[in-house]
Amino acid sequence: MIVLGLETSCDETGLALYDSELGLRGQVLYSQIKLHAEYGGVVPELASRDHVRKLIPLMNELLEQSGVKKSDIDAVAYTRGPGLMGALMTGFVALVSGGHSQLMAAYGIGQYELLGESIDDAAGEAFDKVAKMMGLPYPGGPNIAKLAEQGDPNAFAFPRPMLHQDLTFSFSGLKTAVSVQMKKLGDENRDADIAASFQEAIVDTLVKKSVKALKQTGLKRLVIAGGVSANKRLRERLEADLAKIKAKVYYAEPALCTDNGAMIAFAGYQRLKAGQQDGLSVTTTPRWPMTELTNPEQA
Ligand code: KG4
Repeated sequence: MIVLGLETSCDETGLALYDSELGLRGQVLYSQIKLHAEYGGVVPELASRDHVRKLIPLMNELLEQSGVKKSDIDAVAYTRGPGLMGALMTGFVALVSGGHSQLMAAYGIGQYELLGESIDDAAGEAFDKVAKMMGLPYPGGPNIAKLAEQGDPNAFAFPRPMLHQDLTFSFSGLKTAVSVQMKKLGDENRDADIAASFQEAIVDTLVKKSVKALKQTGLKRLVIAGGVSANKRLRERLEADLAKIKAKVYYAEPALCTDNGAMIAFAGYQRLKAGQQDGLSVTTTPRWPMTELTNPEQA
């Protein structure tokens, strides 16, 4: 069975073909980063226009690249709302994207339990906002991570917000602390140290809360997804700290951490296999908490 996945939920146009026998047959991804960079963030009107412009050419490129004919496609899966994380994986999912930071227990397709989430800025958002303060281009995460490689993560003791409370995340105070520190430094350029210390505060918080959630639920597998899961320091720290509690962290290759068509094609295949499919009417759900996704067994 071949499933076409279409991802157009934000600023990437991603298309992919997932084959139940052969795995990923091909994928194409077009990023609108350049288009939005001069505005410092995603402009929704420009984003949708650009998706329309790119979809058909990308579809043709995908078919050519993979050698699949249009008539070979059995089903189409598209992102209907945020957080459509279809990988059938019982275990644990931390979503650390630009829009949300959530700790979610995943017991099967459509069976998700929200354990904790960000009440203000998500991790990716904090990366982007601090990058903007430092004059780094959008999207900020990868740029901060790069600068942090030359800095000292212990140079500044930035706060780890709500570390000892429940599984809630709050990163807006951290952003303010960075801004105060930058003002104090004035003309002194300590950008690499700021970047490294800020990144360490975010990573430390994400790691400690993930460990707490694993202990609380007794689960042993942590899946990290979303743009921030591409962060090297986060991966290193999770690998080290989870080994101590005999748990394991799973993540995708960096290119598949942000929005892409492959995750949608695979999610669509899992749902189809579980007997869940819709007709040809197209619907969208801009705000769609994962916990409200249906479980195919109950659908
Ligand atoms: O999951 P995603 O595409 O977000 C939404 O769809 O909302 O992830 C984008 C976010 C951006 O905030 C970006 O700065 C961050 O992921 N990001 C990173 C890294 N790569 C992307 N943050 C930290 N380190 C990275 N290497």
